Amino acid sequence: MCGIVGYIGKKPAFPILLSGLKRLEYRGYDSFGFFVLNKNKPFLFKKVGKISEFEQNFPNPDGEIGIAHTRWGTTGKISEANAHPHYDCQQNIFLVHNGIIENYQEIKERLIKEGHKFLSETDTEVICHLIEKYFERNLEEAVRKALREVRGTYGIAVISKKDPQKIVVARLSSPIILGINKDEFLVASDPAAIITHTRQVINLDDNEIAVLKPDGFFILKEKPLETIEWKIEEAEKGGYPHFMLKEIIEEPEVIENAIRGRLIIEEGSVKLGGLDSVSAQLREMDKLVLVACGTAHYAAMVGEYMLEEYAGLPCEVDIASEFRYRKPVVDEKTAAIFVSQSGETADTLAALREMKKKGILTIGITNVVGSTQSRETDAGVYTRSGPEIAVASTKAFLGQLATLAMLTIYLGRQSEMSLVTGKRIIEELAKLQELAREVLKKAPEIEKLAKKYRNFKNFWFIGRKYNFPIALEGALKLKEISYLHAEGIAGGELKHGPLALIDENFPTIAICPSDSVYEKMISNIQEIKAREGPVIAIATQGNEEIKKIVDDVIYIPKTLEMLTPLLSIIPLHLFAYYMAVLLGNDVDKPRNLAKVITVE
Ligand code: M6R
Repeated sequence: MCGIVGYIGKKPAFPILLSGLKRLEYRGYDSFGFFVLNKNKPFLFKKVGKISEFEQNFPNPDGEIGIAHTRWGTTGKISEANAHPHYDCQQNIFLVHNGIIENYQEIKERLIKEGHKFLSETDTEVICHLIEKYFERNLEEAVRKALREVRGTYGIAVISKKDPQKIVVARLSSPIILGINKDEFLVASDPAAIITHTRQVINLDDNEIAVLKPDGFFILKEKPLETIEWKIEEAEKGGYPHFMLKEIIEEPEVIENAIRGRLIIEEGSVKLGGLDSVSAQLREMDKLVLVACGTAHYAAMVGEYMLEEYAGLPCEVDIASEFRYRKPVVDEKTAAIFVSQSGETADTLAALREMKKKGILTIGITNVVGSTQSRETDAGVYTRSGPEIAVASTKAFLGQLATLAMLTIYLGRQSEMSLVTGKRIIEELAKLQELAREVLKKAPEIEKLAKKYRNFKNFWFIGRKYNFPIALEGALKLKEISYLHAEGIAGGELKHGPLALIDENFPTIAICPSDSVYEKMISNIQEIKAREGPVIAIATQGNEEIKKIVDDVIYIPKTLEMLTPLLSIIPLHLFAYYMAVLLGNDVDKPRNLAKVITVE
């Protein structure tokens, strides 16, 4: 997501910061900024847009200490004021931050009462003012005291004009590495930013504070030096050969980010600040329509099952390109929910505008902050999945599912959902990131499966209820990047036609966790096996019986039925990825496709 670079040494800092930020561009960003400390004239430069748009006119400030940042907005719109570095009232503390400060609102209100003046809408700025509050003479001491008050995640690099010969660095659940060279030190959120300067690094651990000075550095405890072996191209993808794999590996983190600070366990409820302005109106709704394209459409379909079962609201899901040309029957008690990673998909935006013309309440579930969809909907929830670079959408899907689960609790608790049910879903949701990590450990097994099935040309994906949309998404992913023929169908539809195609050359991936439709799925698998079709099952851990009827099994941990899609999709994303790699395809940029479809 956001990127951090810092430098302290004997060379001019600015060119080093600039080249570091450029190496972080692959992560995606909407604005950037630099702070370079120069005795005569400290230099602060922040802009909205891409570095390349301004590079011709960059100043070249003096100074051997500096920090820089690329921002991917999560709290507050995309603007110069919200870009980092941020600073305090006295313009003494300058800071860059990755992560989310969950309790920033309450800290901000308190600091405003104490007389602090805020210039941005970000959560980050509260850290500057807290450090200002505690600053006497020693920067690291003030940072230490300030961080005691914040809740959430952070990787920060801080400079003070009044304690100038140092950069103070700290982290909690947001990566920070220190680059160690003779007579110079670097800090970065990602090895790609510093790898051309040094390969000697120290990975800062949670709750550690490091102080970098021109003549040395110290951390609260002794740490060994490590050597980075990655090639530059690998480093830019976080060490992975493709963005798609990097993004699949980020899926647990995406769940974590989506739910962070939003679950209120004791109330069995969720806090979705983006819906506050329309919460009373939402309470009056008696129908929802969910509209999206591609992968986002499949997320919306899972949402339909969740919302109908747990929020008791009639839902209709449609593909945006169809919805916009239908004559949908909606009235003032209908809310339209638009799901989109980019927030720029032309068909989804056109459907949104149709609904606005009819005066319907519009809600966005969007990843990209400040996107057209997020600006044009009446209210919305950001999925906080971070930039998704690969054309095939993977981690964004998980962010959409987690957000739809929270929306279900939000709307359900406004109507018929009991406290007990609310709590139960929340508790399971909170465990999901760990369970998703368990599924990722199966990657080597799934790669082996891909090797076994690489020569087949056709695949069925079948599932029922919550996992019917997962069958559709698994098939879409496979066809999109492997160029093989793959179709997703509801298990119950098999005998209405598709079964005619089954033979020993037509494998089926059956998503059959131990849930309310498990027995029905087993009947479908038996129908396929009777015709000699190979079957790979995605089943619940502990189900040994299934091994007797299928050819291969990938296990996923047990969770609530409504949340199984967040686990069952992970092996399918990995399967599609490994198949495409084995077939020698351009995984991140599949032929004929683009990341954002801005045309009809
Ligand atoms: O940005 P959006 O979520 O609105 O994009 C929707 C689809 O274009 C997108 O999901 C597409 O289907 C992906 N390539 C699927 O992997």
